[in-house]
Amino acid sequence: MIKNIAILGAGLMGVGLAQVFAANEGAKVVLRSRKLRDDPYAPIVKNLDIFVENGLLTESGKAALLGRISFTESMAEAVGDADFIIECLPEDMAIKQDTFRDIEALTRDDAIYATNTSVMSVTEIASKCRRKDRIVGAHFWNPPFLIPLVEVVQTEDASDEAVEACMELLRGVGKKPVKCRRDVPGFIANRLQHAIMREALSMVENGIADPDTIDEALRYGPGLRWPHVGAIEIAEMAGLDLTLNIHRYIFRHLESSPEPSPLLAELVGKGDIGFKSGKGYRVWTPERIEASNRGLREYLIKATRDLE
Ligand SMILES: NC(=O)c1ccc[n+]([C@@H]2O[C@H](COP(=O)([O-])OP(=O)(O)OC[C@H]3O[C@@H](n4cnc5c(N)ncnc54)[C@H](O)[C@@H]3O)[C@@H](O)[C@H]2O)c1
Repeated sequence: MIKNIAILGAGLMGVGLAQVFAANEGAKVVLRSRKLRDDPYAPIVKNLDIFVENGLLTESGKAALLGRISFTESMAEAVGDADFIIECLPEDMAIKQDTFRDIEALTRDDAIYATNTSVMSVTEIASKCRRKDRIVGAHFWNPPFLIPLVEVVQTEDASDEAVEACMELLRGVGKKPVKCRRDVPGFIANRLQHAIMREALSMVENGIADPDTIDEALRYGPGLRWPHVGAIEIAEMAGLDLTLNIHRYIFRHLESSPEPSPLLAELVGKGDIGFKSGKGYRVWTPERIEASNRGLREYLIKATRDLE
């Protein structure tokens, strides 16, 4: 039974994950940062307040949850007694590999290591470690305290026991872990997401529709069904015979370039990178950005409340 959890890296994801794992009453969560900020609890309190404002957590529940989280700058202190260690360090192969290698001397032999890498090979991240059987991927989605999905990635070396212990831990804190049986780029959900994005950007580039129209088509059509039925169930619902006929006809017309969209590369080259610069495919004023972020957060709170 996993109780002691160490989180390495107190950035966006590390802070969010502390809140997630501290939801368990018996948990002891240590967040390790190279340099602690003056008020390390502040970002967690800010996120928890969203829950309180929406009636998902009481003030006393918030205090209890915060009481299960502590901070340290010492790696040995963070991982020494941990059952489960998850790294939320920058997306940099060397940092992740070296950190896992270096902590092996500090952790218990039965500790499970997880990496929250978005796209990197878990096998490669584990490559400098002795106990590769204890190392799994646990890919959370942002914001991790609102999105239930966590992709648990099994490498060829990882034991079933380590994978199952990770899945069990995640279920215990109300997450929806899904197992990715192979350590492939993009795991499951990013492969799906970027297949759709490739087609969406290609349609803009080819003048089939403008970005607003494409996003509306997704939001008001297929996107509405997905929280209830996934892509494969849709195919079965419509009939696999129909799906086969559609694929025979349409696949040759879909974008299949192995390169990113040239228009995307052009925009990035000009510095038009979206919310961060105020312009991407569209103009993003501070008001529009705030409305988009707030709208997504409010939607997620409502949608995840309704999910089974
Ligand atoms: N941001 C997302 O939407 C998201 C979603 C899923 C997964 N991830 C993955 O989670 C991981 C962390 O992402 P993030 O968005 O929290 O990043 P972040 O930059 O917010 O946080 C990284 C933290 O690591 C610390 N750090 C930097 N260099 C370090 C070093 N050499 N040693 C130790 N600590 C160091 C930083 O000070 C910072 O606190 C990445 O692998 C990322 O790909 C991110």
